[in-house]
Amino acid sequence: MNSDIKKILIDENTLKERIRELGGILTQEYKDRNPIVLCVLKGAFIFMADLVKEMDCPLQIDFMAVSSYNGTHTSGEVKIVKDLDASLEGRDILIVEDILDTGLTLSFLKKSFEHRGARSIRICTLLLKDRADRESCNFVTADYVGFTVPDEFVVGYGLDYNERYRNLPYIGVLKEEVYS
Ligand code: IMP
Ligand code: MG
Repeated sequence: MNSDIKKILIDENTLKERIRELGGILTQEYKDRNPIVLCVLKGAFIFMADLVKEMDCPLQIDFMAVSSYNGTHTSGEVKIVKDLDASLEGRDILIVEDILDTGLTLSFLKKSFEHRGARSIRICTLLLKDRADRESCNFVTADYVGFTVPDEFVVGYGLDYNERYRNLPYIGVLKEEVYS
């Protein structure tokens, strides 16, 4: 285990099994709909790659980059760093995200896609952070959730702290001394 990690929350095998389950559900849901599966960069890149391998139906992939975080705190503002290439008109969109925390990022994306004529917009997030103030957060719910995690800063499997730790094959909690 990486020495900056306090504990492993979700190990590789558990991730793999759950993503296989989600892939099976999404295959049923999206067969015959040729969805655009949209990866929210950078955090969702590993989850996205593993998830689409478990989806046994025609689909298109696209990527979008947004930023809202500085270090361990949200900046409260979402910026589109890279927009997607495909037109959303009449399409079924599945947004794939790494973690739903305050909901700011996903509520922003959902709203902006509603104005672009998508037929349906659903959200699949690997992690849902169990925040005490969830009810008062930017109102957005995920349609598919991999795991609920405690309200701690997590890294690995795509998620970073200042661009590090994305390559860890598991989801772990960082030691406080790393970011304080
Ligand atoms: P939200 O807009 O507050 O829901 O935050 C979503 C984004 O913040 C995610 O896409 C992540 O990039 C980042 N984020 C939130 N919580 C964590 C965390 O615990 N570890 C790493 N990144 C996080
Ligand atoms: Mg992210």
